[in-house]
Amino acid sequence: MSKKPKTKKQEKIKAKAKTTTKEKKVEREEEEYTGEYVIEIKNLKKYFGQKEEIVKAVDDISFNVPRGIMGYLGPNGAGKTTTIKMLVGAISPTKGGATIMGRKIGSIAARKLIGYSPEHPRFYDHMTPIDYLVFLGELGGLTRHEAEEKAFEILETIELEQAAYRNIVDFSAGMRQKMALAQALIHEPKVLILDEPTANLDPVGRAKILEQIKYLARKKGMTTLVSSHILGEIEKVAEYVTIINKGKIVISDTMDAVKGLYAGNQYVMRTSQNAKVVELLETKDYVETVWIDENGDIKIKAKDEIKLKNQIPTILKTTKVTLDAFHRVTVSLEDIFMRVTGLDSFKMIMEKEGKEGEEIEEITWEYIEPE
Ligand SMILES: Nc1ncnc2c1ncn2[C@@H]1O[C@H](COP(=O)(O)OP(=O)(O)OP(=O)(O)O)[C@@H](O)[C@H]1O
Ligand SMILES: [Mg+2]
Repeated sequence: MSKKPKTKKQEKIKAKAKTTTKEKKVEREEEEYTGEYVIEIKNLKKYFGQKEEIVKAVDDISFNVPRGIMGYLGPNGAGKTTTIKMLVGAISPTKGGATIMGRKIGSIAARKLIGYSPEHPRFYDHMTPIDYLVFLGELGGLTRHEAEEKAFEILETIELEQAAYRNIVDFSAGMRQKMALAQALIHEPKVLILDEPTANLDPVGRAKILEQIKYLARKKGMTTLVSSHILGEIEKVAEYVTIINKGKIVISDTMDAVKGLYAGNQYVMRTSQNAKVVELLETKDYVETVWIDENGDIKIKAKDEIKLKNQIPTILKTTKVTLDAFHRVTVSLEDIFMRVTGLDSFKMIMEKEGKEGEEIEEITWEYIEPE
């Protein structure tokens, strides 16, 4: 019996039927994943070498990544890439484990969920961005047409469409970095894991790519773990932050909580007559110290923050001054990073603060070369 050439529609139906029950089950489970954390890391360790030569690259770390964008920060050699390589299944842990949407790292089910942009991307020789992205898209289950559409869309987003038919081998470092991001996005992953995606980009390129990552992560609901040691940029895109130093997690929390923690109980106030307000505040039991800072603003260290905030209207009424500003002291992520990475652990800072009543501001940051 001669075979009739198939119509596009018939081919589509056949391709659909090929999807095994197992795959369908996995897809259904992905949709249904309702766990609080997209990535859960528990007692994860990676040691390289042996005995005296041992390098504890990742030393018993535990933290969770909720839905959203988390910055993974740390100085050179802190253990970021090693953690990421374990999460994407490129290397296996010495001990401990992690899950991606409930699936064990290293498993095919976990890998399928991830879009991974490596620190040092490598590409097949003599391929154009279009060839490469379409090839990966098809591998990821898209039809050729879908893969092409997607590839162009991504290249446009990362401003590489002009180079769509050039050879990747001839790309600059920054262009290769952008390609690394493109290939991570082509199969529309549920989870994006990006190892220093802005490392080789110029300042304008960096800001643009991060904006794109933020936009894509939000629009497509992709949970994103992005490593960097450029802190200012992470501050703009991530709502969570984890800092690793010498293989140990020093802090993991929401961006606001981390910043708030270090801002402590200090407030800035600006009024029409600052000196008058300071005079009055000095007499209040809910104020620990109050002074005029180098900008001429009032700085208040509160003993009882709630009471201070509640009393502001009364203070203004009593002194008959007008209020221009009142807010908590904001600390940049850069400040926090400097402080926490200069010490072995966050706990040490808290102990030092609690026991000796020292201010964290007095602790200087020292860069420690990784062994
Ligand atoms: N394959 C390996 N063999 C031996 N040591 C390794 C290996 N991979 C990483 N290390 C060591 O593990 C430690 C952590 O390295 P890692 O690459 O994870 O750091 P990182 O935080 O990504 O640093 P960077 O910001 O420089 O990329 C370093 O001391 C590094 O030398
Ligand atoms: Mg690294």
